[in-house]
Amino acid sequence: MNRENNRNFLEGKKYNIITFGCQMNEHDSETIAGMLEEEGCRQVLTKEESDITIINTCSIRENADKRFFGTLGQLKKIKEKNPSYMACVCGCMMQQQHVIDTIHEKYPWVDIIFGTHNIDRFPELLERAYMEQASVMEVLADTSHIAEGLPAKRLYQHKSFVNIMYGCNNFCTYCIVPYTRGREKSRAPEDILQEIETLVRDGVREVTLLGQNVNSYKGEDAEGRRWDFSDLIYRINAIDGLQRIRFMTSHPKDLSDKLIQAYVDCDKLCNYIHLPVQSGSSRVLKRMNRRYDRQRYLDLVQRLRRAVPEITISTDIIVGFPGETEEDFEDTLDLVNQVQYDSAFTFLYSVRKGTPAEKFEDQIPEDVKHARFERLVEAVNEASSKKNAAYVGRIEKVLVEGVSKKNEATLTGRTEGFKLVDFAGSRDLIGQMVDVEITEGKTFSLSGKIVEK
Ligand code: SAH
Ligand code: SF4
Ligand code: F3S
Repeated sequence: MNRENNRNFLEGKKYNIITFGCQMNEHDSETIAGMLEEEGCRQVLTKEESDITIINTCSIRENADKRFFGTLGQLKKIKEKNPSYMACVCGCMMQQQHVIDTIHEKYPWVDIIFGTHNIDRFPELLERAYMEQASVMEVLADTSHIAEGLPAKRLYQHKSFVNIMYGCNNFCTYCIVPYTRGREKSRAPEDILQEIETLVRDGVREVTLLGQNVNSYKGEDAEGRRWDFSDLIYRINAIDGLQRIRFMTSHPKDLSDKLIQAYVDCDKLCNYIHLPVQSGSSRVLKRMNRRYDRQRYLDLVQRLRRAVPEITISTDIIVGFPGETEEDFEDTLDLVNQVQYDSAFTFLYSVRKGTPAEKFEDQIPEDVKHARFERLVEAVNEASSKKNAAYVGRIEKVLVEGVSKKNEATLTGRTEGFKLVDFAGSRDLIGQMVDVEITEGKTFSLSGKIVEK
């Protein structure tokens, strides 16, 4: 393609990106922003100010779908005022035919539709849409190709997401991700290491390695050697200048002893794990196709805590999965009380088109789901409050992330265990590691004061 030509079309254009969904999507949006900036575009904060709006969609639960169509509807008015305005949609929803059909039927004025497997093609699609004054759609079913070397406009200067793999092979029966992100593909270890080294030279202190199931990372280097996830962690731990390593998400069925050992051996690997349990009932876990049972999960937690007593643990839990009985639900409550999570994301089960659980006949009535949800949230919050209260008086290393939305004079940051802390301090500490004495533990965060050296 003639990039000069492209530059003519895109130079000086103002864009904004609206992102729904998980860290994968957030990071894809950073890449889209990076590519547009390379073409001479400039980011603005609202869709009303922009020439190009990109909505990066998520399909994980029904309310994500609803929010998308609500936002999409608003773009029509902008387009009516500004005929050269480009309304672009991408992300997980675009990988589903029924969504594409709805867009064609009800929102035919959308200019560009692309999917999760070809975000690298966006600048070219945009150029085509401008040149041909016609709408453009390109969605690939799946691909083994991994686009390397794409630019990214980072949301934070001092921390960054790094994809280590794409897709998912697990097919949990409730989940849409294997259909929207395709099969597992691991990046080559050299590409990952090189990216992190470049980020560190650019001031990044903390990386979060991303994958739907990082424990099943299978990289192959130029010499044909196979790397597993722990091999990668040990090697990243040796990068000078990097201070913290995190990862998401870790599937309990594949969490190895070797990874637990990596927590002990690797000083930069934060003592924190997000370990989604989904349910505390072995019967439900089996129907979810999670491939571990309650006991195996509890054993894992125990092994982690034995090896790393300080480790903080968070989780995801689904309430009201088809066939969940009161007894199954009580097993979940009981597991939450036993594990005492530092935090937990709780979700009402949401039927997803095309997943096996959509066909399960014993769907749970909404009122029952909601009542259980309330009880679960109460148990989860009680544990989080207790855990956080125990931090009072401790001194924690905090990477300063920014100023609080509520108060300009308050800084916020994260402890090694991923707890959010607020404390008074000056803006020039952003991006630095400071010692903070914890003075208060709340349900979802901590407060503290900087320890003067
Ligand atoms: N790959 C990650 C999860 C990604 S999705 C993992 O396996 O841990 C994030 C969370 O959304 C899941 O852990 C699950 O709790 C929730 N989720 C996924 N599909 C859902 C559905 N259909 N209804 C409700 N919650 C769902
Ligand atoms: Fe979905 Fe399960 Fe894959 Fe996670 S592991 S993305 S929940 S199918
Ligand atoms: Fe949503 Fe896709 Fe992530 S469905 S949760 S944006 S992988």
